[in-house]
Amino acid sequence: MAIYKWPAAEGRSRRWSRVYLLVLCVALYYYYAGSAENLAGYRTLDAETLAKRERIVAQCRYTRTPAGPPIDFHSRDQSDRYAPDTKPTLIKNARIWTGAENGTKIIQGDLLLHKGLIKAIGNVPLHFLENLQLEVIDAHGAWVTPGLVDLHSHLGVDSAPRLEGASDINSFKAPILPWLRSLDGLNTHDEGYELARSGGVTTAQILPGSANDIGGQAFVIKLRQTKERVPTAMLVEPPFTLNGSHFDRDLPPRWRHMKHACGENPSSVYSMSRMDSGWAFRSAYESARKLRDAQDEFCSKVEAGLWSDLGDFPEDLQWEALVDVLRGKVKLSVHCYEAVDLDMIVRLTNEFRFPVASFHHAGETYLVPELFEKTWGGAPSIALFAANFRKKREAYRGSEFAPRILTSHGLSVVLKSDHPVVNSRYLLNEAALAHYYGLPENVALLSVTVNPARAMGLDHRLGRIQEGYDADVVIWDSHPLSLGATPLQVFIDGIRQFQAPQVSIKPPFMQRCPDTPNFDKEATEAFEHEGIPPLIPKSVQHAIFINVSGVYTRTTGDLSLEEHPEVVVARGGEIICTGTHLTCSKTLDEVDDEVVVIDLEGGVIVPGFTTYGSPLGLTEIRLEPSTNDGHVYNPLAHDPPTIIGDTLIRAIDGLQFEGRNMLLAYRGGVTAGVVAPSGEFVQGVSTTFSLGAHHLLGNATIESDVALHVAITMNGAQSVSTQIAALRHLLFGTGGDEVLAGVRNGQSTLVVNVNSADIMATLLRLKAEYENNTSKTLKLTFAGASESHILANEIASAGVSVIVTQPKPYPYTWDERRILPGPPLTADSLLPVLLAAGVNVGIGLTNEFEARHLRFEISRVFFSANGSIDLATALKLATTNLEKALGIHSTMPQDLVAYPGGHVFGFEGKASAVISEQLGRIDLFE
Ligand SMILES: *[C@@H]1O[C@H](CO)[C@@H](O)[C@H](O)[C@H]1NC(C)=O
Ligand SMILES: *[C@@H]1O[C@H](CO)[C@@H](O)[C@H](O)[C@H]1NC(C)=O
Ligand SMILES: *[C@@H]1O[C@H](CO)[C@@H](O)[C@H](O)[C@H]1NC(C)=O
Ligand SMILES: *[C@@H]1O[C@H](CO)[C@@H](O)[C@H](O)[C@H]1NC(C)=O
Ligand SMILES: *[C@@H]1O[C@H](CO)[C@@H](O)[C@H](O)[C@H]1NC(C)=O
Ligand SMILES: *[C@@H]1O[C@H](CO)[C@@H](O)[C@H](O)[C@H]1NC(C)=O
Ligand SMILES: *[C@@H]1O[C@H](CO)[C@@H](O)[C@H](O)[C@H]1NC(C)=O
Repeated sequence: MAIYKWPAAEGRSRRWSRVYLLVLCVALYYYYAGSAENLAGYRTLDAETLAKRERIVAQCRYTRTPAGPPIDFHSRDQSDRYAPDTKPTLIKNARIWTGAENGTKIIQGDLLLHKGLIKAIGNVPLHFLENLQLEVIDAHGAWVTPGLVDLHSHLGVDSAPRLEGASDINSFKAPILPWLRSLDGLNTHDEGYELARSGGVTTAQILPGSANDIGGQAFVIKLRQTKERVPTAMLVEPPFTLNGSHFDRDLPPRWRHMKHACGENPSSVYSMSRMDSGWAFRSAYESARKLRDAQDEFCSKVEAGLWSDLGDFPEDLQWEALVDVLRGKVKLSVHCYEAVDLDMIVRLTNEFRFPVASFHHAGETYLVPELFEKTWGGAPSIALFAANFRKKREAYRGSEFAPRILTSHGLSVVLKSDHPVVNSRYLLNEAALAHYYGLPENVALLSVTVNPARAMGLDHRLGRIQEGYDADVVIWDSHPLSLGATPLQVFIDGIRQFQAPQVSIKPPFMQRCPDTPNFDKEATEAFEHEGIPPLIPKSVQHAIFINVSGVYTRTTGDLSLEEHPEVVVARGGEIICTGTHLTCSKTLDEVDDEVVVIDLEGGVIVPGFTTYGSPLGLTEIRLEPSTNDGHVYNPLAHDPPTIIGDTLIRAIDGLQFEGRNMLLAYRGGVTAGVVAPSGEFVQGVSTTFSLGAHHLLGNATIESDVALHVAITMNGAQSVSTQIAALRHLLFGTGGDEVLAGVRNGQSTLVVNVNSADIMATLLRLKAEYENNTSKTLKLTFAGASESHILANEIASAGVSVIVTQPKPYPYTWDERRILPGPPLTADSLLPVLLAAGVNVGIGLTNEFEARHLRFEISRVFFSANGSIDLATALKLATTNLEKALGIHSTMPQDLVAYPGGHVFGFEGKASAVISEQLGRIDLFE
């Protein structure tokens, strides 16, 4: 009987399958001929019945054949995705990171792309090039990597700009929906594709959302436009069963993909507990198991030749995909954060015996690294964010050190976008951040190429630069792990993606891998303290800084620089001397004997940054109302509570300190925050506070009442014209709160959160009208301001300041769809355009977890400005310019931050101390 067992599919060639088929037919013949039971039946079998039986035999064989590429896959000489009019391309003189040898193999030389494939690498033999109408690109020694692979994306199903009628990411019909397909919702016109390509992303797995335990089937797509212009044409190796048509069952099945999610998301949508979720999974798998067993029983009978009363092959369109999970033919992506959830899924895999390809988000995986070996079928890949943590309990213990810790346990680490949660244009930035926090260079690059391709089951064609692989290639303007690395050109299936790419020149040192700081101690502490290590710094009164290359200090509304002081002496929170040992000898005598001496190794001391735009200071766990100040009432939606009277809400009354985002931002060199109450339309009065303060009464407030904040958006609930009318009424009216009175008489600033250029134009008109009618100045600042480049000159001449709170531009909403994306798509970028027009520009960030990386966002602007802005200008974006825009520049304390070893900007520096005038002390981060 063994003869009926079809050999394992992996490694089988088509030719051999024909041979096997022949052997099978002959065997069948002899089997039936020799079996007494069937002898009579066989003789009377007609051709139709024989054909039917053959189909059934083939179906059973196919059912039991493992998924994967055919063995002769690499003998292909053109890609199934090859577009016939694509010209062959020779990229000359490149530094090629191939992905081979654990991500350490780099080849200097050329790269030939032809017929959608990589045909040759290094020294391309001349005869390869004969008779080819080549496009030749000289890379001039630039870095070249495989196209980036995003293991977790909602591109095309979560629409950009977000439109109410067009959200196809989640079904809300039930917790268990293995029969849904993300492909059915894939919008080919999404604004996100081009932006993702402009970040070097060439392939993405499009997953359904996480509203369900089993949200449906995922599909892998290439991000280029196709001639056909339909979603199906974007697919990479879709399952043969996709459209129900007949296909060649001699080929092994292709990998399928599916999403599972556990924890807070499915629970909150269906008012379930984790216990309900666990049961939902088990009962679904029980249904699939019964069907699988019925199929196996059927096929055993077929194999035994027991054809009588066989009936039909047991099939159920709703459960067939989950049956394939049990058969090991599906690359499963499981969204799962906490130890409790991971443990449940690992148990489930053993109860029902199915493998998991990857755990996603997986915030606590680094705390339980031994668990994964116990997963049925072997340890999954772990797909992580670099830093998007703390927004819910299940993300609270997430750590920037997870990638390096998991790697040290031999697990395969992936960094992914969860686009648009992290804008996938910045997928590589996730890997670069992980590298900054200690993930080795080779693994950081593998984490967005080889590792995700393997987790998708597509590493036979994607994620590497290797002969015979798909011609998905990126040429970079700098080392791919340097801050803000940007494609010079992208190829997908050998097709050039940018006809006239815009290039900004990077400084030469960015061609090498950044020499990142040491975070060993922090990583150990993160593990030891189960994700919540102590973050409060050690405070001292005296410190001496030596080998300092420069000290920038705030002067009113500006910065001044003192270069190469021999020593900097600090006492309390102040620098009491900058100079030589000789000129500072008196103050050196004054500091006590146990003074801390800090060698800055040629580093700098610069003003602490000020953060604005997120609810930092009013929120701890964003999605947990009991940890936050909460929302203020919207006076346009309902009557204000009478008990409040005319008073505006003040952020200072809701401040909370020693939060984790706050302390991490402080350790990232951000010493002050400006926060406004959260709400629609009239938000209230902002406050400025010190991030290092322990509580409100401990020198925490820098300025209690800063500015009046108003949001004007196209929100669908109240018309823009209604919001403007209400604002006009507030401005031209009388009475009310004293901050409002301050705005009316030109003392306080009115900050309007606005993204649309049309609304900004209306506000400029209102300002002119107000100033004309009252002969008073209206101090106006736009925050958000994604479309402000359209009005740069008008904004400048109106004397309005701008705070750009989305320095990584993305058209999340309709009223900010006209972004200025910057290179390689446009020569200009938003901040440099505003600066060039003479606008006072500051930078902000909307998410509190990002506040710690404010320095990197300024660096990104600095390095992508093509030399048009200098270091001091860049520093001002999050210090004096921002403070001017908010009207607090004259009251900011001289809080300074020390960065050892050269750069404030880029991935090489790390803040080591704060000299805080505000707090009257020196805080050390060691
Ligand atoms: C790959 O490199 C990483 C980091 O350098 C190392 O931890 C790992 O052991 C290497 N893996 C192999 C198979 O050499
Ligand atoms: C249906 O799928 C088969 C197998 O993948 C493919 O060859 C065929 O072109 C598809 N038909 C349509 C109409 O998409
Ligand atoms: C200052 O630090 C730089 C970088 O580590 C080093 O090259 C230089 O020799 C140091 N200078 C002094 C005077 O110690
Ligand atoms: C507040 O700052 C002053 C110096 O500016 C300092 O003397 C005092 O100890 C600080 N108070 C607290 C509670 O930190
Ligand atoms: C400014 O005021 C003058 C005199 O009150 C009036 O004639 C003019 O129309 C006003 N302009 C604007 C833009 O409101
Ligand atoms: C501003 O002045 C103009 C011209 O005097 C007048 O028509 C308009 O009503 C005034 N607007 C307000 C809001 O007072
Ligand atoms: C950057 O500057 C170079 C040299 O000045 C110029 O050729 C290039 O076009 C500029 N790029 C952009 C994006 O402005």
